[in-house]
Amino acid sequence: MAVLSIKYKFPENFWWGAATSGPQTEGRFNKKHANVFDHWFDIEKEAFFNGIGPNVASNFYNSYKEDIKLMADIGLDSLRTSIQWTRLIKDFETAEVDEEAVVFYNRVIDELIKNKIIPVINLQHFDLPVELYDKYGGWESKHVIALFVLFAEKCFELFGDRVKNWITFNEPMVIVEGQYLYQFHYPNLVDGKKAVQVLYNLNLASAKVIAAFKQSKCAKQGGEIGVVLNLTPAYPRSQADEDVKAAAFVEDFFNKSFLDPAVKGEFTPSLVQTLQADGVLWESTPEELMIIKNNTIDFLGVNYYQPRRAKSKEVAWDIEKSWMPNKYFDDYEMPGRRMNPYRGWEIYPQALYDIAINIRDYYNNIRWYVSENGMGVEGEENYRNADGLIEDIYRIDFYEEHLTYLHKAIQEGSNCFGFHAWTPIDCWSWSNAYKNRYGYIAVDLATQIKTIKKSGYWIKNVAKNNGFS
Ligand code: BG6
Repeated sequence: MAVLSIKYKFPENFWWGAATSGPQTEGRFNKKHANVFDHWFDIEKEAFFNGIGPNVASNFYNSYKEDIKLMADIGLDSLRTSIQWTRLIKDFETAEVDEEAVVFYNRVIDELIKNKIIPVINLQHFDLPVELYDKYGGWESKHVIALFVLFAEKCFELFGDRVKNWITFNEPMVIVEGQYLYQFHYPNLVDGKKAVQVLYNLNLASAKVIAAFKQSKCAKQGGEIGVVLNLTPAYPRSQADEDVKAAAFVEDFFNKSFLDPAVKGEFTPSLVQTLQADGVLWESTPEELMIIKNNTIDFLGVNYYQPRRAKSKEVAWDIEKSWMPNKYFDDYEMPGRRMNPYRGWEIYPQALYDIAINIRDYYNNIRWYVSENGMGVEGEENYRNADGLIEDIYRIDFYEEHLTYLHKAIQEGSNCFGFHAWTPIDCWSWSNAYKNRYGYIAVDLATQIKTIKKSGYWIKNVAKNNGFS
């Protein structure tokens, strides 16, 4: 029998998994507290696509067994999801747990392991308890950081015997952007100074959780901890000095502000200088900076969907206005760019190669994995064939293009150990709700029936062959 040769073969033990999060899948069943999105939906349903909120989501709280079985059926070997702070903890100040939630997360973790799926557990996926925002200003407060550490310690203690891969935050930069700059996370503020302080506080929170993790039994038994960053490279419009400078600021503010402290333990000097000169630099103490210095990540997760493109400002920033990072750049819409029209995001697979090489050359070639990549498409029901299969060929093409660039970077020495798609099963996308679907597996919202899409069969083959042709 002819042996099929695999053109793009990946390293041994490469993860072929997928990522999701607690607040986007579980539904609010039995949850005793609300996070900022739960609360936003309670007070302003119309802010969510078709008025659909997180109350049921993809019903994972009730159907986790069947869902995990489907994930195993399509060959996934690892899953990132998150433990909701608002579910696990009954009393935020003492970290007293809700016993029902402990049972639930134990069952989920055990079920994953039973199905040979490695659990990768994230501690924060945009789901700050709203009470902690109302009472303390959320991530603006160092007390909230202390409470987050208590929650994290509880997670390590309860689940660290089986969970060996932990994540402190998913896309902390998106918290800064959504809550404090561009109004897409409750409470939708526009406050550059607070944004900068929160950016710092989130770095500190991540480092403090890592410090706590190092003391845990899990770490002593070989467990590891990392952070997931959305590294969306910033390409300048042209090589003209002004454009290059604009893109360099975008890199400093949106990428390096988390990447440098996470991997190197230090903030980027050029960023610190600019923020200081503008009078918006964060407040920090030497002790905190030492904590950041001494508690860097074991591995990195990179979410990549779209590039950023920047150009110099057309009109100078009005200094009467409050500080915003946009003082230093304008977004650039490159003519002829390829778009995903549903999400409004540019498709540029080559960026994954650039990210991988950047990590290799400037970040100690740290061990990293693609923690999210994916394509959200509206109206996928239109692609169902006569046999009921959603033929999401565009998604397969999207992944193969990205994986081809990733493969090239790995060949050239980048230390990437896995690829997680966003997402295993269609899930709730914040204010876009169920508009754009990302999953390998479809959800019918009316019946909660879940069916494997063509891309689900595709990934099964890729995982089996550890590559594709
Ligand atoms: C990532 C997030 O930014 O992108 C996910 O980690 C999110 O939570 C995903 O769902 C897709 O983006 P969106 O906005 O279409 O849901």
